[in-house]
Amino acid sequence: MPCKTNEELAELVEEAKKVTSEGKVADYIPELGKAEADDLSVAIYHVENSCMSAGDIEKTFTLQSISKVLTLALVLMDHGEPFVFSKVGMEPTGDPFNSIVKLETHEKQRPLNPMINAGALAVTNMIKGSTKEEKLLRYIDFIRKLTFNKKINICKNVAASEFETAWLNRSLCYFMKKDGIIEGDVEDLIDLYSNQCAIEMHSLDLAKIGAVFALDGKHPETEQQLIPKDIARICKTFMVTCGMYNASGEFAIKVGIPAKSGVSGGIMGIVPYQFGIGIFGPSLDEKGNSIAGIKLLHLLSEKYELSIF
Ligand code: DON
Repeated sequence: MPCKTNEELAELVEEAKKVTSEGKVADYIPELGKAEADDLSVAIYHVENSCMSAGDIEKTFTLQSISKVLTLALVLMDHGEPFVFSKVGMEPTGDPFNSIVKLETHEKQRPLNPMINAGALAVTNMIKGSTKEEKLLRYIDFIRKLTFNKKINICKNVAASEFETAWLNRSLCYFMKKDGIIEGDVEDLIDLYSNQCAIEMHSLDLAKIGAVFALDGKHPETEQQLIPKDIARICKTFMVTCGMYNASGEFAIKVGIPAKSGVSGGIMGIVPYQFGIGIFGPSLDEKGNSIAGIKLLHLLSEKYELSIF
């Protein structure tokens, strides 16, 4: 289905674009540093199957941390809540996404939640499959269903760039391996995680995934239950409490919708029973969230009274 440009949305994109110069493109994964800082796109997918978009909508970007919420859904489907939450907690940290500090100071070395890197690595380690290739294929198949049968591509340059530079993530893994939170080969896990983060999307794909969550896990067209309702609820709750890292509290007050960001500049937003939002704006604020993306969500939320609170 073609997604029409919407004039009102285009005006908000122009307004939000003004702040891109106040942020910076992520370059700790060198390949991400090639993004164009003033890009900004948004797509909105309504649960009754219409969509609208504005901005640099043809640009693709990698999922990065947005993948964390999708991996969580898959492993909860694979193993159920008791097992998953024996390895990862449910509490926000207030620390940067890649911080190691709580692993040492908190009880049992269990990472505090699945949206920080430590927790996400523990979750990726739980994807079912006998090899890393089989695990990745299962994950890709899940993402394909969530994007309404889109052929899923992995940006191999970004995956390789992350794999080559993921020293802190390796440290997190070895720390957790010591206490049995993580099992198996750490290099295989970093490889799988780097590939999961490097899955490529358009804003519209992200909006479609958001629409599935907005409908409690149901595909808006086929009404197939792609994610059990309870698991979709858990994922959305994590998005509210930890989805924007240590900016989640302020985001909940100012915007007030479940959302998940990634360092590529993507943000997936969910307006329950109404629509999913996909945003791409690679210029980031100091916490690693898309600076213009947050501005745009703020404008949208105020204008259309989207806050769930
Ligand atoms: O673990 C990493 O460094 C990335 N691949 C994902 C981080 C990320 O997107 C954090 N975002 N704000």
